[in-house]
Amino acid sequence: MKTLLISLMVSVGLMSAAHAGNIEAGKAKSVTCAACHGADGNSLAPAFPKIAGQGEKYFIKQVTDMRDGRRNVPEMTAFVMGLSDEDIADLAAYYGSQAATNGRANEELVELGQRIYRAGIESKGIPACIACHGPTATGYDAAGFPRLAGQHEAYTVKQLNDFSMKRRDNDMNAMMRDIAQRMHPTEIEAVSSYLQGLY
Ligand code: HEC
Ligand code: HEC
Repeated sequence: MKTLLISLMVSVGLMSAAHAGNIEAGKAKSVTCAACHGADGNSLAPAFPKIAGQGEKYFIKQVTDMRDGRRNVPEMTAFVMGLSDEDIADLAAYYGSQAATNGRANEELVELGQRIYRAGIESKGIPACIACHGPTATGYDAAGFPRLAGQHEAYTVKQLNDFSMKRRDNDMNAMMRDIAQRMHPTEIEAVSSYLQGLY
C-alpha cells in the first residue's frame, strides 16, 4: 500500500500543470449547479452530494470524467456537456473555497464506523480509510484523495455500492472498487454514518 501511495503521488505530481481556477468566475458559473448542490455547495437533499470544501484536483477529475463519459451521472449530463476545462477549474476553485457543513452520525453505528475508518478490517483485507482520506477525512488533494467529512450518508453509501458493483469505475488502479467489494452492507452503512458526523 505504501509503494502504491508513493508511486501515485509521483505520477499525480507530474500531471499537475493544470490551469488554476478563478473563484469569482466560478461563482458566476455555479448558478446552474445550485438547484441541486446548494448555492455554497452544501446541498440539503441527501441524494445530491455536498461539494463545498472539496479538493480542486479531485473535483476537476470528477466533472471532467462526467463530461467525457468516464463517470456516468445522468442527472448532470446536460449541465456539464458544454463546460470547458477553464469553466471546470473555475467551478472547482469556487466550491473548494466554500466551508463544508457537517451532519450527525447514528450513535449505534459510530463506534464500528470509526474503527473501520481508523484501522480498516485486517482479516478482510480492508485498509484503513485514514491512510488516504486523512485523520479528519478532509482528504489529500495533491494526490486526488477526496474529502469525505460531513458528506450525506446516503450519498457515501451509494458510492461505495457503486464501486463495489463496478457501476462507478473511474478510480485509478481500481483502488476504491477493490476496497468496497470487500465490505459488508453494515460496514458500509457504519463508516458512511461516521463520516456524515465527522468535522
Ligand atoms: C439536477 C441535479 C444536478 C445538477 C444541476 C448538478 N449536479 Fe452535480 N451531481 C448530481 C448528482 C445526483 C451527483 C451524484 C451522482 C452519483 O450518485 O454518483 C452529482 C455529483 C457531482 C460531483 C461529484 C461529487 C463527488 O464527491 O464525487 C461534482 C463535483 C458535481 N456534481 C458538480 C456539479 C457542478 C459543477 C454542477 C454545475 C455545472 C452540477 N454538479 C450540477 C446532481 C446535479
Ligand atoms: C489507497 C488510498 C485509499 C484508501 C485506503 C481509501 N480510499 Fe477512498 N478514495 C481514494 C481515491 C483515490 C478516491 C477517488 C477516486 C476517483 O478519482 O474517482 C476515493 C474515493 C472515495 C469515495 C468517493 C467520494 C466521493 O465524493 O464520491 C468514498 C466514499 C471513499 N473513497 C471511501 C473510502 C472508505 C470508506 C475507505 C476505507 C474503508 C477508503 N475510501 C479508503 C483512495 C483511497
